[in-house]
Amino acid sequence: MIVHQQPIVESSERDTLSDDDKLPLFPDQPQPEPYTTVAQVGDIQEGHGKAFPVGKRMVAVFLHQGEYYAIDDFCPHQGASLAEGYITDCTIACPWHHWRFSLDDGTWVDNPKLGVDKFPVRVFNQQIQVQVPLES
Ligand code: FES
Repeated sequence: MIVHQQPIVESSERDTLSDDDKLPLFPDQPQPEPYTTVAQVGDIQEGHGKAFPVGKRMVAVFLHQGEYYAIDDFCPHQGASLAEGYITDCTIACPWHHWRFSLDDGTWVDNPKLGVDKFPVRVFNQQIQVQVPLES
């Protein structure tokens, strides 16, 4: 008989765990990627972006009209940092040749069949966190 023993968690630590940090109900099932903290609230100015290394890639995180967005930082045209681009109407324009990508889903506005990866982003305990597949 296999017994899965729960680790002892102090009550103060338990109170700070998010739903995604808790032990999985079914440990043999594929689990969602963990969230990674990239910055603190206040580190990214409204209307701007910053790039952060997460696993093997750079992730561009933007603050637009009070909402955070996270997409791949690497422009598929010639590799500029999209975090250095310009936000208009919930799109980011690449700083080099102005290809525009949706902050909502990462699609290339001028050719929606293409785009960059979009990642879930959240604020937890004043930390900006992104959920990026760590294998990619
Ligand atoms: S490098 Fe981004 S549009 Fe050219």
